[in-house]
Amino acid sequence: MGTGEPSGLQIAWPLSDGRVTIRPASEADAEAIFEYQQRPEAQRYISRIPATIEDARAMVAERTSAPDGLMCAILLDGPDGQVVGDIGGRRYLPGSLGPEPEAWDFRLGYSVHPVMWGKGVASAAVGLLVPALHDQAGIRRIVAKVFADNRASIRVLLKNGFELEGTERAKVLGRDGNWLDDCTLSHLS
Ligand SMILES: CC(C)(COP(=O)(O)OP(=O)(O)OC[C@H]1O[C@@H](n2cnc3c(N)ncnc32)[C@H](O)[C@@H]1OP(=O)(O)O)[C@@H](O)C(=O)NCCC(=O)NCCS
Repeated sequence: MGTGEPSGLQIAWPLSDGRVTIRPASEADAEAIFEYQQRPEAQRYISRIPATIEDARAMVAERTSAPDGLMCAILLDGPDGQVVGDIGGRRYLPGSLGPEPEAWDFRLGYSVHPVMWGKGVASAAVGLLVPALHDQAGIRRIVAKVFADNRASIRVLLKNGFELEGTERAKVLGRDGNWLDDCTLSHLS
């Protein structure tokens, strides 16, 4: 099991604002992450949900060892250093009509434990990671795909300077059988 430090993404960890800290996740975080992944309210807009703690460990191991992947634990600062969420994604080379791109793009995702919703945790985590991706990891364009119904997530992104690029209508079939509009938001360096 690696440390979660992907070879290509050079960021000086941990990142903290004095209340919320993010650092690369490790297999030791799998139990805390699995705890909130099991909550129905946390599953509504998420495609891949581990069924067992072994699945959760395997998912953390896969995401932390992928060379272009990043999976961070979100912790509350304090004596307990409790894991209350995760944030990360994957970098990839932007499209090009010829010249070799000299910067990367990044697809961002995150989750927070439902008991902590509405306390600014996701906003803080995005606010910590986005500048580090741009300034330290050479990421040019950060993209988040969010279902239009997921107002909290869209608010988190807009508060952090993301802009709505467009909405694909009735794109994905939701868990409740309804078709979901899929929004693309981005943050450029
Ligand atoms: C989306 C999610 C990460 C937000 O986490 P959070 O820590 O509660 O977010 P924050 O507290 O930082 O910010 C939430 C913002 O949304 C707002 N909000 C919450 N519910 C809302 C709603 N129904 N309509 C509009 N705004 C809403 C809050 O008021 C807050 O904005 P404010 O600070 O301006 O008041 C969390 O709900 C979650 O984990 N959901 C399940 C996983 C998921 O959907 N991940 C994102 C996939 S793209």
